[in-house]
Parts: sequence; structure tokens; C-alpha cells
Amino acid sequence: MKIFKFLLIVFFVSMTSSINTFADEAKMKKGLEIFNETAGCAACHVLKAAGSVGNIGPNLDTVSMTIESVTDMVTNGLGVMPAFGEGEILTKEEIDIVTYYVVNAAGK
Ligand code: HEC
Repeated sequence: MKIFKFLLIVFFVSMTSSINTFADEAKMKKGLEIFNETAGCAACHVLKAAGSVGNIGPNLDTVSMTIESVTDMVTNGLGVMPAFGEGEILTKEEIDIVTYYVVNAAGK
């Protein structure tokens, strides 16, 4: 009986982690779409994983970034970098998704 319970737990844990993997993949796919199309980050930034070669802003493969720093930059902008949050160009959710994408795709 103990071993059965153990297997049941293993089963549920692995189910949850594969559901998370699906969610992460969907987020990366949507993030790429926002990066290249909806927001046009690609026009200004190099990001090898997205195949983008824009050179107006910094190369995102070589700068150090955190979820917090990218969320702030995309929301509020800086100089030439547009404020996607203030101008309501992107929704809060889209900013979260594109940030997740950039942080996880950079340097790959
Ligand atoms: C019109 C060109 C332009 C677009 C479009 C643009 N950026 Fe930028 N971005 C810049 C410039 C220029 C900077 C540098 C700002 C500064 O330091 O003065 C920058 C800075 C950044 C930084 C900070 C890099 C560092 O040095 O740490 C991140 C991250 C970033 N952009 C992500 C994005 C994302 C994600 C998008 C799309 C949602 C985007 N950018 C769209 C021009 C752009």
C-alpha cells in the first residue's frame, strides 16, 4: 500500500511538471510573437534566438537582465526605448510574457 501511495505521488508530481512545461512552451511561443511582431522589439535589438538583428538598442544576448529589470524597461522605456506600458502599446500580460521570453531566450 505504501509503495502504491508513493507511485501515486510520483505520478502527480510528474503530471504537474509536464503541464508546467507545456505552459512554458506556450509562453515562449507567444513571447517570440510579441518580440518580433506585436511590439517590434526585433527592429531595435539583436536577439539570436528570435533571429533579430536590429542595432538601435543594445544586443540583448550580451547584456545582463533580470525579470525585474526587463519588466521595468519595457513598461517605462528609457531614451529611445519606447515605454510600452505607459503608452498602453502592450498590456500588462503581454509585458510579462515578452519579458519572460527575452530573459529565457537571451544568449541562446
Ligand atoms: C525604437 C527602438 C526600440 C524598440 C522598438 C525596443 N527597444 Fe529596447 N532599447 C532600445 C534602446 C535605444 C535601449 C537603450 C536605452 C538606454 O540605455 O538609453 C533599449 C534598452 C533595452 C533593454 C535594456 C538593455 C540593457 O542595457 O540592460 C532591454 C531589456 C530592452 N530594451 C528590451 C526591449 C524589448 C523586450 C522590446 C520590445 C517589447 C524593446 N526593447 C523594444 C531601443 C528599442
